[in-house]
Amino acid sequence: MNKQSSFTRMFSILMVFAMAVFLQACDKSDTGTAAKSAPQTAPATSSAPAAATSADTAGIDGEALYKGACQACHLAGVANAPKLDDKAAWAPRIAMGVDALTQSAIKGKNAMPPKGGRMDYSDEQIAAIVQYMVNQAQ
Ligand code: HEC
Repeated sequence: MNKQSSFTRMFSILMVFAMAVFLQACDKSDTGTAAKSAPQTAPATSSAPAAATSADTAGIDGEALYKGACQACHLAGVANAPKLDDKAAWAPRIAMGVDALTQSAIKGKNAMPPKGGRMDYSDEQIAAIVQYMVNQAQ
């Protein structure tokens, strides 16, 4: 019955979260530490056999970028964003192909703004994130 107010509450929590992420991201770029050179606990990107469709995404840590820009909506399913662990929501999308999904993410789709609002992300970074999301969702 108070669906509306819990949505409002969740939305404001997310805004705070998004701000924090944004400030953190600014901090990082100030020190010149690009996301791809950030020390990650998982050395997966270098050791994994690169099965990526596009060589452009090699060396980009899609997971870290996802956490910084996309999970704000895709973790909890804000505004009906397909949750990362919701295989049923992703199956028909994955069927469209990673390239088409990357285009949706770059251009935006319905409630999702272009690049999830992160216009500072390059198309290659978005492609790497979408590849990561698709890997998680299938
Ligand atoms: C403001 C919330 C929000 C953020 C932030 C956000 N998304 Fe989304 N995303 C959505 C919503 C809502 C949909 C569902 C759109 C639809 O199908 O109507 C969606 C759908 C998608 C899809 C499926 C597109 C399709 O064609 O079905 C992909 C891929 C995606 N998002 C990637 C990303 C990536 C990558 C980021 C981070 C750069 C991101 N999203 C950030 C809300 C968001």
